[in-house]
Amino acid sequence: MTDAPRKILVTSALPYANGSIHMGHLVEYIQTDIWVRFQKLRGHKCIYVCASDAHGTPIMIKARELGVTPEELTSRFSEEFVRDFAAFGVDFDNYHTTHSPENEALTVEMFEALRAAGDIYTKTIEQAYDEEEGMFLPDRFVRGTCPFCETADQYGDACENCSKTYTPADLIDPVSVISGTTPVTRESEHYFFRLSEYEDRLRAWMKSATLDKNAVAKLDEWFDAGLQDWDISRDAPYFGFRIPGTEDKYFYVWLDAPVGYPASFRNLCERRGDLDFDEYWRPGHDTEVYHFIGKDIMYFHMLFWPAVLEGSGFRTPTSVYAHGFLTVNGFKMSKSRGTFIKARTYLDNLDPSYLRYYYAAKLGPTIEDIDLNLDDFVARVNADLVGKLVNIASRCAGFINKRFDGRLSGALPDQALFEEFGAASGTLAEHYERREYSKAMRLVMALADKANRYIDENKPWVMIKDEDRLDEVQLVCTQGLNMFRSLMIYLEPVIPAVGDGAKRFLGEDTWRWADASTPLLDATIDKFTPLIKRIEPEQVQRMVEQSKETHDATPADKDDTISIDDFMQVDLRIARIEKAEPVEGADKLLALTLDLGDSTRSVFAGIKAAYTAESLVGRHVVVVANLAPRKMRFGVSEGMVLAAGPGGEDIFLLSADDGAKPGMRVK
Ligand code: MSP
Ligand code: ZN
Repeated sequence: MTDAPRKILVTSALPYANGSIHMGHLVEYIQTDIWVRFQKLRGHKCIYVCASDAHGTPIMIKARELGVTPEELTSRFSEEFVRDFAAFGVDFDNYHTTHSPENEALTVEMFEALRAAGDIYTKTIEQAYDEEEGMFLPDRFVRGTCPFCETADQYGDACENCSKTYTPADLIDPVSVISGTTPVTRESEHYFFRLSEYEDRLRAWMKSATLDKNAVAKLDEWFDAGLQDWDISRDAPYFGFRIPGTEDKYFYVWLDAPVGYPASFRNLCERRGDLDFDEYWRPGHDTEVYHFIGKDIMYFHMLFWPAVLEGSGFRTPTSVYAHGFLTVNGFKMSKSRGTFIKARTYLDNLDPSYLRYYYAAKLGPTIEDIDLNLDDFVARVNADLVGKLVNIASRCAGFINKRFDGRLSGALPDQALFEEFGAASGTLAEHYERREYSKAMRLVMALADKANRYIDENKPWVMIKDEDRLDEVQLVCTQGLNMFRSLMIYLEPVIPAVGDGAKRFLGEDTWRWADASTPLLDATIDKFTPLIKRIEPEQVQRMVEQSKETHDATPADKDDTISIDDFMQVDLRIARIEKAEPVEGADKLLALTLDLGDSTRSVFAGIKAAYTAESLVGRHVVVVANLAPRKMRFGVSEGMVLAAGPGGEDIFLLSADDGAKPGMRVK
């Protein structure tokens, strides 16, 4: 290559460290990794950093539920991520965490710079507050009935049925997801970032960043709607970085999350010594910075993040590349269908190269969703990788190994044909550069067809029977293996593990992109072992079965249905209320003492507006007996009493007819 090497920094979105990596995430990390490997193969200086996103309410709550600290929870998941990513060949130059000193220092630096520029102000807002838990509730932690279409059980920010947006206070009968009580509205002072002042600068950035046209359309939509200032603070308790000069205010997770990109890079600079942080993150250098993300987080990366960088004296990203969402067999991934497949479950059953190839064969540069159709996956990988690609080598290698001592000939019999393979280099490079991977895969497979046709026509297995034509066999097989080699070089970014096997077999150490255009001649090759096996459909079936067994519902990926097994796990019992007392400091709660026949339980119930304590004693109610004890502000609750109704005064305890005894199972 004659061009000077580019200096490129690439990131993938930082995965939340409170749940395992699944097939959907892998679209992004594989897409990015292919691009990075391509740049490196081309001889550019390309650095790929990532980190775990460790902050925010969901992580804090999940840690609490599991009885561990958020630090423990997130570092446990980080370790799992590092292992899973490595197994899929996702080769980060650095993997860090947002809960790091580098990140805190940079976040505070940016915040102070924005404040000095007059872009930060405070304002008192009203927010849903859970009195029982003693905390403000993020919109997603309040559920209730949509105020527009009256669909029940909707999140506090938007309705999944009619798509209207609103605030938790607008919901009919809102309920805190954490305690099950009705939230109240409370005031609190929040910090805001003046995003509204950034429209012109963001429009200018958008032009320079050459974004996908769908992304531009989205941005235009947002500009037309008018940019709102951004609430960047949250009240304690919160897992995050405290805002300097406050006692109980924290930076909202989405402020410090993207700062995790430069922070991870800074951490790498400290370890490596040959990298200059400012060269990549201050304006005025000829380095390039790209963020790969999913379409769900475009607002954060194409508006908030460039504005924060711009306003605080950092450089803005060269571009932001958004991809679509993964569906499996045409639907959103689903636990009941067994299509919510975790990275680890896949690895237990299948070779990662299959998935890398399949995603590459499907991926383009747009935010269109992509489908992992499991039947097509098996058919496509077997046809392309095994049937076309590796087949070229396996048809030629045996003759070279057995009859020519592993020796390749000193020239090619069909130089023109080989040059066609070399000539594809420019087009393929362009496809990779533009993330047109599916086009690149199609071109490579068309060339593989050509190589197979060449072997079919020359029939080395016939020639080998004729002693006079042995030289020809060596030449034809050398030609075949060189076409295979060029294609493997082109595919190295996609299936590096297969590439490593091919290099070993061909007796080579490393490849550069340009090597695809020069043949390997007069060299000794190693014994051929199949580089990749066929997928057996049973392997996929097993993976689907195993995915049905894993239960790890987080609010974001919750399925709509539960299985009968799930239902049977709920141990419902009759309990007799022995004692009922008000709880000091809680307006809605009663502390109940329940007799379950063989045991006594203390349970808090938010029913004070509907029942007086005295009226309850002696009643037979239905209780969830195997609920894990939950630590609440007023003590530990050891179960849950079932009731119907919207809340407040309209709560109706489910009770049992005469004859029901404490401890009886409810079926
Ligand atoms: N923590 C934020 C990102 C912060 S970046 C400063 C986050 N984390 S995530 O774990 O939910 O998602 C990580 C990436 O995976 C996102 O880019 C997201 O779009 C992508 N995907 C998660 N599920 C996906 C699919 N089902 N399909 C394709 N990509 C998906 O968002
Ligand atoms: Zn609605």
